[in-house]
Amino acid sequence: MKVIRSIAELRSELKDRRDTDKGPVGLVPTMGYLHEGHASLMRKAREISGTVVISIFVNPIQFGPGEDYETYPRDEARDLALADSEGVDIVFIPTVQEMYPQPIKTKISVSEITSLLCGASRPGHFDGVTTVVNKLFNIVKPDYAFFGMKDAQQVAVIEQMVQDLNLDVTIVPCPIIRESDGLALSSRNVYLKPEERAEALVLSGSLRTAQEAIRQGQAETAGEIRTHLRNYISRSPLADIDYAEVLTFPELAPVEDSYRIVDEDRTVIMALAVRFGRTRLIDNALFQPK
Ligand code: PAJ
Repeated sequence: MKVIRSIAELRSELKDRRDTDKGPVGLVPTMGYLHEGHASLMRKAREISGTVVISIFVNPIQFGPGEDYETYPRDEARDLALADSEGVDIVFIPTVQEMYPQPIKTKISVSEITSLLCGASRPGHFDGVTTVVNKLFNIVKPDYAFFGMKDAQQVAVIEQMVQDLNLDVTIVPCPIIRESDGLALSSRNVYLKPEERAEALVLSGSLRTAQEAIRQGQAETAGEIRTHLRNYISRSPLADIDYAEVLTFPELAPVEDSYRIVDEDRTVIMALAVRFGRTRLIDNALFQPK
């Protein structure tokens, strides 16, 4: 496994690998502090790519003022060991100076679907994401890029960018990986105090029971699902709901409370963001009509 820190060196290494026909290039963009969720993306990339590149870069421009850019967890040695054990070929770890040598004046901005859910609570966040992902695509020129459905809105936004700008890359969405008790894996879970970690189960619990309620015919409309999610999460005294929403996926079109998800043939997403103290957790589940 090669660890590369400069864009020039990465380009030259990838050119060599293309010239010697090492097969399709798969890219897994990450911010590091890798866990089993990231590892599942690397495994999927390993399955379908000849060259697997992962990037580790805590991207300052996707953090808002007062967010956790400075304190975002970092552990390069552990990340490299995990990437190596997953058979990654190249780890790209640029510095901020390497990625942003001058103040950036060009940004990629996807409209509309970035103004709701996480985009509403984190203004400018998705511009930072699409801009850095576009830069990574230009640097690596991947055939495939792998993203987790943990960040479902991010998948929808990146897919929109790829279509709008005719980017020559196939986006591969990968399923959410969870702890055995249901909590979705996240680098930010380390921030949780023990009592917050225990109550954080209301996210996955509310989604699981909402799916059960739909299956058993106890919830049929978007409004009933919203009420179910909010009531369930409100059982936790430490939980502060940022949003508990139902929208279509991947269009992220809002639906009325009266929208009968069981009768329509559109996929909907139940999407959550909940704060526990200073830690903001997200989770989601899709409902696919038959
Ligand atoms: P990061 O939060 O490090 O996540 C990197 C990738 O891992 C994302 O595609 C994310 O959805 C996926 N991932 C995280 N937790 C997961 C889980 N429990 N199950 C499945 N996949 C999971 O997302 C980012 O970084 C950044 O915004 C980035 C795209 C790298 C741009 O800076």
